[in-house]
Amino acid sequence: LNALGKSERSKFPLADWLDRHVQARHNLGLSGMGRELASTRPLLRHPSPASVDEVQRLVARSARVDPARVFLTHGATEGNAVALFTLARTIRTEKHRAPTVRILQPEYPPLGDAARFAGFKPASPSAIADLAVLSDPNNPTGRGRPSAELKPIGSSPRRMLVDETFREFTSRPSVAQEGCPGVWVTGTLTKVYGADEVRVGWIIVAPGEGEELGAALGLLTDGIAAASRAQAAALLRNRKFVLAEARRIFTVNRRALGLKEATATDLLAPVFFDRLPRGVDGTTFARAALRRGILVAPGSFFGIVDAVRLCLTRRSFPRDYAAYARFRRSFLGSSHRRTR
Ligand SMILES: Cc1ncc(COP(=O)(O)O)c(C=O)c1O
Repeated sequence: LNALGKSERSKFPLADWLDRHVQARHNLGLSGMGRELASTRPLLRHPSPASVDEVQRLVARSARVDPARVFLTHGATEGNAVALFTLARTIRTEKHRAPTVRILQPEYPPLGDAARFAGFKPASPSAIADLAVLSDPNNPTGRGRPSAELKPIGSSPRRMLVDETFREFTSRPSVAQEGCPGVWVTGTLTKVYGADEVRVGWIIVAPGEGEELGAALGLLTDGIAAASRAQAAALLRNRKFVLAEARRIFTVNRRALGLKEATATDLLAPVFFDRLPRGVDGTTFARAALRRGILVAPGSFFGIVDAVRLCLTRRSFPRDYAAYARFRRSFLGSSHRRTR
């Protein structure tokens, strides 16, 4: 049993930390909109039936790609997992050796863990990796990668898996739109659409590459339930309306951070990676915050020890952040200002 008395299985360390402390008075741990969106409630109540083709077409329209490149999954976690297994197999068959991967820190931890589980080995720093895996916008920093870095050219990795879980918090276009060879993209309805329970996500393959992936999905996963397809279609048909509400909340919360305008508009996802003064351990800091009823995620989960991640998804964020800022000042003492 977990701390809530539910017999949920353990997930991975970051998710377990957030689940265990979900009842914190000031929850700055949740990266999805969850139930904050009033616009989704009527849409999810009595949705019209939708076929797989229709949902694929709606995803394709929002990413501006050919629907033949879109494969539905039960969320981005499954999308990343099946994409990684498929890419590992393809590269192993091509190269007759273990596939190699490059993952820069900080990064959402399951991306690297799943890649290793699928058989990828970390590429040596001087070598060209077979695959780069990254979230864009990045979780936990909320920043985007320059688009030139998102194309495998010259000495960069030959293939890329770009997790665009947070893309639609702004109008940033999908990198899939460019149709670069070797670039695969994943996405989901669980964050900006707040539709955790619908459990629908997708993989968009590079042009002409879906055959192996289709076989993998057919073998390893089940189709999307009719109820989920109908709800997914309802959300995607009313995409502009839902996104407008989520983006309004995000904009208000981003303002509450009090960052300089240019830095604030660089934040493309509702996550903020607060770099602590050097030598301050983020885990010790996060545990002390919890004792004041404030939940944040230690940076060590993302590969950086002296930082914590805050999420800007709740309507209560301005209040929660004020409590966090008070705690931060008292924990660090007046000699430590935000210097980085
Ligand atoms: C970068 C990233 N990818 C994937 C996921 C999981 O997405 P889903 O709930 O659709 O499986 C998350 C959740 O926090 C995430 O931050």
